Amino acid sequence: MLDRPRVFVSRRIPDKPLALIRESCEVIVWEEENPPPRPKLLDQLALADGLLSMLTERLDREALDAAPKLRVISNYAVGYDNIDVAAATERGIPVGNTPGVLTEATADQAFMLMLAGARRLVESVQYIRDGKWQTWYPLQLPGQDVYGATLGIIGLGRIGYAMGKRARGFNMPILYHGGSNQEFADDLQARAVDLDTLLRQSDFISIHAPLNDKNRRMIGARELLLMKPTAVLVNTARGGVIDTPALVDALQRNLIACAALDVTDPEPIPPDHPLMQLPNCVIAPHLGSSTWKTRELMGMLAAENLLAGLRGERLPHCVNPKLYSTY
Ligand code: DGY
Repeated sequence: MLDRPRVFVSRRIPDKPLALIRESCEVIVWEEENPPPRPKLLDQLALADGLLSMLTERLDREALDAAPKLRVISNYAVGYDNIDVAAATERGIPVGNTPGVLTEATADQAFMLMLAGARRLVESVQYIRDGKWQTWYPLQLPGQDVYGATLGIIGLGRIGYAMGKRARGFNMPILYHGGSNQEFADDLQARAVDLDTLLRQSDFISIHAPLNDKNRRMIGARELLLMKPTAVLVNTARGGVIDTPALVDALQRNLIACAALDVTDPEPIPPDHPLMQLPNCVIAPHLGSSTWKTRELMGMLAAENLLAGLRGERLPHCVNPKLYSTY
């Protein structure tokens, strides 16, 4: 039907949210695993009333200028550093994200990476694959104790808090920097400290801060030097929060024990990247929210944002709500 809004969904998403969108929209889905190449994206934007985008789509001024009819951008992610939100706001386009539903899955991933890094899991598997497991001996692949160790959380938002709750179950004292939810801090009995103190005093450091101009490369050579030589650095936020060459150098020189990363800069990370050559670096391919249930829930929130925007209603989860303020 001609009056159905046209929507571009930039990757396959779970069936349930897709079916919901199809009920009222003409839907074009980019069926490949890899993102649409830029010209294809721009071609689709030229015709789209609504866009359901992934974090891999760079939605800058050029992309928005190519989208004269666009009424809503619904990002299938809680993070939205791929979108020039100011440019969307100038054009009156609401931008939606998917907070809340991926909190626990992402915290599970962070905690899993923390344990894997502490106990050298990936190295241990490789050790067996390489035929090195000949016997048992006291100095065989020793790692770091997690139970009772101090956790430093950078960014005590929803996911940082969920990570902290898990850590409390391991009797870990918690320091935090960034994030201003006093209830979270009180519940975790977490102590607010400046970044340098957190880096100096923590055994494990977990990053949960969004990527923005302030946080870009906030962990660089100076910060890595402040960490304990036994520290494990976990990142499930965005790769750009860490200065990657500085991290490679710190791991090569064993200035810290390990980095356990769900996100990298660049992303995807090439298999021949220096980080991939290091035994003290554990990397997952940005899977924090990747459980069946969570990916469906993200799809439902993204669909709700998209459909609300197309109806001209306020998005349930809008990152530029000032669009709705009346002066
Ligand atoms: C997000 O939502 O921002 C994650 O990085 C992907 O789920």
